[in-house]
Amino acid sequence: MHEIVPGLVHAPGYLSRAEQEELVATLREAVRVAPLFVPRMPRTGKEFSVRMTNCGPLGWVSDQTGGYRYQRHHPETGAPWPAIPALAMRAWADLAAYAEPPEACLVNFYDAAARMGLHQDRDEGDFNAPVVSLSLGDSCLFRIGGTERRAPTRSFKLHSGDAMMLSGPARLAFHGVDRVMGGSSTLLPQGGRLNLTLRRVSGAHAYDSPS
Ligand code: SIN
Ligand code: FE2
Repeated sequence: MHEIVPGLVHAPGYLSRAEQEELVATLREAVRVAPLFVPRMPRTGKEFSVRMTNCGPLGWVSDQTGGYRYQRHHPETGAPWPAIPALAMRAWADLAAYAEPPEACLVNFYDAAARMGLHQDRDEGDFNAPVVSLSLGDSCLFRIGGTERRAPTRSFKLHSGDAMMLSGPARLAFHGVDRVMGGSSTLLPQGGRLNLTLRRVSGAHAYDSPS
């Protein structure tokens, strides 16, 4: 485990191959209950290249009219999100050093052409809690910057089984995924990359009422 920039902790090979396979199996079940959806940018309605779903009491969604937000229900089926996988809960316990459990586990699926532009994770109500992420499948080039968009950035590779945490001075750092290296992993038979992002949401500015 090492710090790439202050607050960004990288744990290469955090999950064994057997654990990665177990997590993929759990996610296949989750996607049956909560199918991947196409998020859209606020206002412009432009489609993300990444497909998403969520696990946990709250899920992160984005569409043209409602913008970025957390909500308790899948945007298309209206059903509650499935439970956060046990291995993801373990990663939070191992890495986060935070008393409360995560409330949202965003699941991002990248095909070989998908990417994610530089952004901050700031739809949460509590920035003291870190963001913990797990990578599965194809490797990617991950980019990390500072807390201002124009700050210098650097990139490094995330491989299948790696865990990463944005905490402390890196909690609000700009970050993104430049590209996915198609064919770099045998974990997902169809290829592509899965990323799980665990977050504490409490106090968030907007999520729909409990039911
Ligand atoms: C994200 O920032 O939401 C995803 C990061 C990643 O895919 O590693
Ligand atoms: Fe993010």
